[in-house]
Amino acid sequence: MIIALNNKCHLTKEEFFLYQSNIKNLHLKGTKLVLIPSALHISSFSSSKISLGSQNVSSHEMGPYTGEISAKQLKSYHVDYCLVGHYERRLMFSETNREINRKIKNLIKEDIVPILCIGETKEEKENHLTRDVLLKEIKEAVAELSKEEVEKIIIAYEPIWSIGTGVIPSGEEIKRHIDCIKNVYPNNKVLYGGSVNLDNVEKLTLDNIVDGYLIGGLSLHLDKIQLLIDKIEK
Ligand code: PGA
Repeated sequence: MIIALNNKCHLTKEEFFLYQSNIKNLHLKGTKLVLIPSALHISSFSSSKISLGSQNVSSHEMGPYTGEISAKQLKSYHVDYCLVGHYERRLMFSETNREINRKIKNLIKEDIVPILCIGETKEEKENHLTRDVLLKEIKEAVAELSKEEVEKIIIAYEPIWSIGTGVIPSGEEIKRHIDCIKNVYPNNKVLYGGSVNLDNVEKLTLDNIVDGYLIGGLSLHLDKIQLLIDKIEK
C-alpha cells in the first residue's frame, strides 16, 4: 500500500520542522509513505524510510522560466514522486492535459514517478460521464509515451466533488471506476484520493479496491495518519 501525504500550501518553516521530526516517528510495517510537502520544505527533508514527493513541476526543462522548478532540480533534491494534474492546479492555475503531458515527460526523463491525478466533477458524475472523463484525461496525459513509460505512472483517482468535502463515492462506485482504469491500464498502480479519513479507510482497504491513498487535509494530523496506517496494516 502506498500512502501519499499532500500537505498542499500549509506549514511554515517552524511548523514543518516539528512536523518532519514527528513524521519520522510513525510506525510503518510495509506501507510505502510518500511525503509531498510545500516546495520550500523539500530541501530540508531527508529520511531513509519515507519517500519525498513534489506537488508540482515545470512543464519546461531548466532555463529562463522565472518561478519554475524543473524535474532535474527536483531530482537533485532526491525527489522520487511528483503530483501532476491535481484538480486544484487544473482549476485554479488552468493546467491543461497538454501541459500535464509535458510535465510527465520531463519527470520520466529524470526517473521521478508521476502521480497523475484525474477525476470527474459532480455534474459529469450526474451525467454518467465519469468513465469517459477519466480515460480521456489519462489518454491525453500519456500521449506519445511508450507502454513502458506509461506503466511507470501512478494514477490517482480523485473525484473532484470529493476533495476536501467529506463526501466520498460508495465502495462499489470507486471499484467500478478503478476497474475501468485498470481494464485499459492493467499494470498501473491506482490510488484513491478525496476525503479519505479514519471512518472510511477500513472499508476501502478491506474491499481491496486500491493500491493506496492520496491524502490531503488529514496529512497535517500525524496522530490520525498513524491510526490510519494501523487500520490499513491490520
Ligand atoms: P483531501 O484532499 O484528502 O483533503 O480531500 C485530497 C487531495 O487534494 O489530494
